Amino acid sequence: MDPVYLNGEFIPRSEAMIPVEDRGFLFADGLYEVTPFYGGRPLRMDGHLRRLTRGLGALRIDFDVEPLPAIHRELLERCGLQDHTMSMVYLQITRGVAPRSHAFPDPPATPTVFAYAKAFERPGVERWMRGFNAVTVPDRRWTRCDLKTIQLLPSVLAQEEARQAGATDALMVRDGLALEGAHNNVFAVFGDVVATHPASNQILPGITREVVLEVARARGVPVEERAIPIAELACASEIFFTGTTTEIRPTVELDGQPVGEGRVGPVTLELMQGFRELIARECGVALDPDASELDGG
Ligand code: PDD
Repeated sequence: MDPVYLNGEFIPRSEAMIPVEDRGFLFADGLYEVTPFYGGRPLRMDGHLRRLTRGLGALRIDFDVEPLPAIHRELLERCGLQDHTMSMVYLQITRGVAPRSHAFPDPPATPTVFAYAKAFERPGVERWMRGFNAVTVPDRRWTRCDLKTIQLLPSVLAQEEARQAGATDALMVRDGLALEGAHNNVFAVFGDVVATHPASNQILPGITREVVLEVARARGVPVEERAIPIAELACASEIFFTGTTTEIRPTVELDGQPVGEGRVGPVTLELMQGFRELIARECGVALDPDASELDGG
């Protein structure tokens, strides 16, 4: 029956309705999270809940996240995804339903809570090893990109620009600096150092970004969290994007120019391998064979 979760109930998707006065609909007044599950086990649910809690605090939406892990679990089970190799749960919380007026409703409305689960098909390692392309687009977002709000129009336009250019990822640039993708973070390799923008108000602090930084440090790959000028990025030997549904996605072409030697580089491969090992350790799932096996070496 394709169940979804809405305000305390599991109901068929076709029956899930939101009132027209929901502030998510009228003002994009809400937050969302996308949490990955490998073999039915969440990867870093604590990180996702921490980020959500911080966002709820910043938006002053009074909502207790404590029941959410059980809701995620039950949703996966009801969707038959409890053993699926990879799936994700989309969760959205808005300030609730109230007559349209910019300031918060007084008394506060009850937040609207909606979630659905979806199987995620990972492209095979052969596709991954060919690499992907990206284009730069201007970052037109507000100054609180650290909050995972549902006001995504600038990101929607950025991703559409990439799609029309035949690119997989959109790299958002502001004041000459490479910030992040439309729905993922970006890393670049200079020498043996892997760099990514610091977790400031200009980017979303990705949970995958955090995992990748952790994997890099554990494997002795030097990391730098610093702003990367777009002119410098043109000299990077490797670029990759990270995110819940992106995982670690190598970029071999940026704005039509090859990145480094135009193929997936050794630092990216090392981190991809570390990421797979972390998922095996934390979620008990063995993903695709690693690239070195594929190479026969
Ligand atoms: N996007 N930056 C932006 C702007 C994002 O929207 C996302 C996530 C990320 C990566 O965050 P994480 O590693 O926690 O997924 C970075 C989600 C998945 C989406 O919009 O679907």
